[in-house]
Amino acid sequence: MAPMADPNVNIPLYTHGPSQPGGGRLPIAIVVGLLAIIAALLVPLAISARARVSTSDEPRIQPIQDMAQQPRYGPQSPSAVFNDGRAMRSPVSGTVARGRADDDDHYYRGFRTVTDANGNDTTTFLDGFPQRVTLTPELIARGEQRFNIYCAACHGKDGSGNGPIHQRASELVVLHQANWTPPAYLHSDVVRTRPDGHLYNTINVGIRNMPAHGPQIPVADRWAIVAWVRTLQLRQNPPTPAAGKLP
Ligand code: HEC
Repeated sequence: MAPMADPNVNIPLYTHGPSQPGGGRLPIAIVVGLLAIIAALLVPLAISARARVSTSDEPRIQPIQDMAQQPRYGPQSPSAVFNDGRAMRSPVSGTVARGRADDDDHYYRGFRTVTDANGNDTTTFLDGFPQRVTLTPELIARGEQRFNIYCAACHGKDGSGNGPIHQRASELVVLHQANWTPPAYLHSDVVRTRPDGHLYNTINVGIRNMPAHGPQIPVADRWAIVAWVRTLQLRQNPPTPAAGKLP
């Protein structure tokens, strides 16, 4: 049963909850204090938001330096440290760029040069395909396509040496009484008996009047072309079992 109010005594009833004077309200000082804290928390956000949209010549604030700022030379800048006054140094002579060692003679050059004790060089063209080249129908098809792009204009698609450039040049030679070295007949005994590395080298650096194709044709494609030239030659002069040369 609820306690009864005594009309003679002006004492507030002892109750819990909001009916108590000032109950549920925070003291004004605490409210102001909390608002101040919330406002203060927004300040770093405001600073970083401003930093994001504005530029500054000042270096960034770096509480932990960790060698982030170090003196350095820019490209092409001068330097008093070196005799030639340049900050940029050339690589030590003989330096090989990473991944460019090209240390497989057979694959990259098609020949090997050996220097004997007396300092004399002997160069041998290597026969067969390098280990890293696998003869597949895809490689030969690639070689055919590359040959028709790069070589057929002079040598003809069949390797006869009768490509459109040769045909046109032969007309002009008569007209202008000029000189013209015909593209080689690729089925001649000379070309057929050359080592594969020689054929590769011909594509790579050219031969006599034929220009180099190395700068235009990547290494793997040069070997594909070698495979195609060999295919053309075998088609023209298939080996006979009697000759004991079946591949
Ligand atoms: C601009 C014309 C031209 C193009 C393109 C050309 N050649 Fe030749 N090639 C020649 C001429 C010319 C010769 C003969 C050079 C000489 O005897 O002075 C020759 C010679 C050759 C020989 C004979 C080399 C030897 O062993 O005596 C081979 C093999 C050969 N070329 C392969 C190729 C291949 C493979 C390609 C394509 C990557 C090619 N050529 C592209 C013009 C060309």
